[in-house]
Amino acid sequence: MKQGFIVVNAYTSSEHELNQPRRLKEELTALGVRTDIVKNSPKLLERAGDFCVYLDKDKYMAYLLERKFRLFNRAKSIEICDDKMLTYLALSGFPQPKTVSSLLCYTEGKAPSGELLDAAESLGYPLVVKECFGSLGKQVYLVNNREELFALSSQLLNKPYLYQEFIKESAGRDLRVIVVGGKAIAAMKRTSQTDFRSNAELGGKGEAMLVDEGAANLCEAVAERLGLDYCGIDLLYGTKGYLVCEVNSNAFFGTLERVTKINVAAAYARHICREVYKNGI
Ligand SMILES: Nc1ncnc2c1ncn2[C@@H]1O[C@H](COP(=O)(O)OP(=O)(O)O)[C@@H](O)[C@H]1O
Ligand SMILES: [Mg+2]
Repeated sequence: MKQGFIVVNAYTSSEHELNQPRRLKEELTALGVRTDIVKNSPKLLERAGDFCVYLDKDKYMAYLLERKFRLFNRAKSIEICDDKMLTYLALSGFPQPKTVSSLLCYTEGKAPSGELLDAAESLGYPLVVKECFGSLGKQVYLVNNREELFALSSQLLNKPYLYQEFIKESAGRDLRVIVVGGKAIAAMKRTSQTDFRSNAELGGKGEAMLVDEGAANLCEAVAERLGLDYCGIDLLYGTKGYLVCEVNSNAFFGTLERVTKINVAAAYARHICREVYKNGI
């Protein structure tokens, strides 16, 4: 019997977080694959199954599970996407906003390095600050002057983060593109009237878009570079074309499926079956 399992975070409690795994299970079941949704646990290492769809971000368990199962996405891809600075580095050569890395500080209560603040300031004001680990727009900030730069840098001193050129043409809007199995299959423009961040969770409204050739070529190349089976890529609208803002290895597709009427879960399920059961579904 064909069987696999979908892993969610060990401490998941909200119904909302179960939408994604349930949709995937539904589409995998329709293809004749028995699929269980399970919370992350060391016990999974003793399980049977042909594959594991890993919707958690715990990289250590991902690497452990990958010793035994084909993981969707792969552990390395998840690790790179979860860390915005690692993503920036891995996408060297792709169009991206100019970026300056923070400096590791072991001790608490220090003032941020003046040379670091100078480098950040060279990006011009306002500038964007992002924690390396963050999502839903919550750990992304805009700073307008040296005072705010100093205050935020002091606050983030002991965390990894980055400074980034603010792409003002893209303020309050971006393009979310879904890539499955190497193909850009759906896109949604997100626009916010109230915030420079267009995340749906902060009030950004989604609108279905055709995936234009430029966005498709860029996003398919990005997914290939990062070895992703599935991802949602955020593109910014630069003056000279798209810039890669962020790559989400676990992008939620609920809103996008509703807005675009494209069955993302079915496309992902088909990709998984093609990969795992090479001789057909
Ligand atoms: N350099 C930038 N210039 C302009 N807007 C940006 C920039 N970086 C991020 N944004 C806006 O902030 C949003 C959140 O940033 P993102 O890097 O995607 O982090 P998150 O993981 O929280 O979604 C983006 O969708 C975009 O609207
Ligand atoms: Mg984003």
